[in-house]
Amino acid sequence: MSGLLTQRRILVTGAARGIGLATVRRFVDEGANVVALDRDEAALAMLAQSAPDAPIRVITADVTDSTSVAAAVANAAELLGGLDGVVNAAGIDLIAEFEAMTLADWSRVLAINLTGPVVVMQAAFPHLRAAGGGTIVNVSSGAGLSPLQHRTAYCASKAGLQMASKAVAMEAAAFGIRVNTVCPGAVETELFRSSIDHEPDPRAAYEAIRARYALQRIASPDEIAAAILWLTSAESSYVTGTAIAVDGGRTFH
Ligand SMILES: NC(=O)c1ccc[n+]([C@@H]2O[C@H](COP(=O)([O-])OP(=O)(O)OC[C@H]3O[C@@H](n4cnc5c(N)ncnc54)[C@H](O)[C@@H]3O)[C@@H](O)[C@H]2O)c1
Repeated sequence: MSGLLTQRRILVTGAARGIGLATVRRFVDEGANVVALDRDEAALAMLAQSAPDAPIRVITADVTDSTSVAAAVANAAELLGGLDGVVNAAGIDLIAEFEAMTLADWSRVLAINLTGPVVVMQAAFPHLRAAGGGTIVNVSSGAGLSPLQHRTAYCASKAGLQMASKAVAMEAAAFGIRVNTVCPGAVETELFRSSIDHEPDPRAAYEAIRARYALQRIASPDEIAAAILWLTSAESSYVTGTAIAVDGGRTFH
């Protein structure tokens, strides 16, 4: 711990597990005050109970419900006494052959993975401006840089999130707000596990995925949180509008 986020007030979505949860824990270790937002109320309650003395508040909200997001972001800013950082980690996966993918599947993935972060950014914007600047980090995916089979909606949502982030970064710079994206490869979380478990041979599927990575392994959520930390801290003060692959070398070749 080196106090990289001392006194920073940060909202993290998708914070009940996986990459979002690792980010909350890392941020608190670095001195931040955090509001953890997720749609999973029970998992948020467990997070609050697991660290009763930590500066973590929890808010239950679904990022697809814009009214609920507006209330949640306002509540977060009130709880923290302002807002100077946002991390959008809430997201879902969808594996479906293109012809079998329904319009409802497509719409749900886009609503959570693309529209959700946009709505959160929009709600947070006035608070970040009022703070005199801040940071937004959106969790995209290597699947938004380089396509994967049977993931049309997921890839499109993640590529869209990168470009939305860049476009927002253009406007946000005038207010001292930096907007960046991280693009993880495969990360050991429930989302990753459930994508493997539906395969006929999960062990073989795991090995096939692992083999695609130059570093020949799956990431831990902490390794993604470290990149999100860097983009949220002043250590990256000259970085905006970028999409950083944190993917063990899947997409550079
Ligand atoms: N795990 C991977 O291999 C991987 C790889 C690349 C990108 N990502 C991205 O990283 C992000 C986090 O993924 P993860 O692996 O930690 O997943 P996860 O399933 O472990 O955690 C995601 C969290 O988001 C929450 N969430 C989902 N939909 C929501 C909604 N509508 N409103 C509010 N909260 C919602 C879930 O309740 C859950 O707590 C996602 O955007 C995912 O697409 C993950």
